Amino acid sequence: MLYTQTLLDHFMHPRNVGEIPDADGVGELRNPTCGDFLKIWIQVENEHIADIKFKCKGCPASIATASVLTEMAKGKPIDEAAEITDDMVTSEIGGLPPEKMHCSNLGPEVLYAAIMNYVLRTPMKKTTGSAEE
Ligand code: FES
Repeated sequence: MLYTQTLLDHFMHPRNVGEIPDADGVGELRNPTCGDFLKIWIQVENEHIADIKFKCKGCPASIATASVLTEMAKGKPIDEAAEITDDMVTSEIGGLPPEKMHCSNLGPEVLYAAIMNYVLRTPMKKTTGSAEE
């Protein structure tokens, strides 16, 4: 199996590339086997992913699946975004060659880490807010 047109489009024109200054949550991960690296920033409003950006240093499949993942997550409630799986990303992109299936793991794991980072920060914000009132 070769790369799908959807994958090639996202690889050549990745969506949501960049960083979010003062992001509400940040996650990053390096695949220990191949060394590919992905970092995701999220902005959360009313417990929804209001904005999401990513930077990736990796193979075409990891870049394209990260791009698709950001489109899938944007606008979703954070609990739904946290449940996006590598299978869902692979399906959205129209499949991956068998030897590239692991590349779709990176995005959901990093998004989950960014959401957990947001969740862990939130009580501190509320505590700080109420202490200052
Ligand atoms: Fe490592 Fe694609 S080869 S994520």
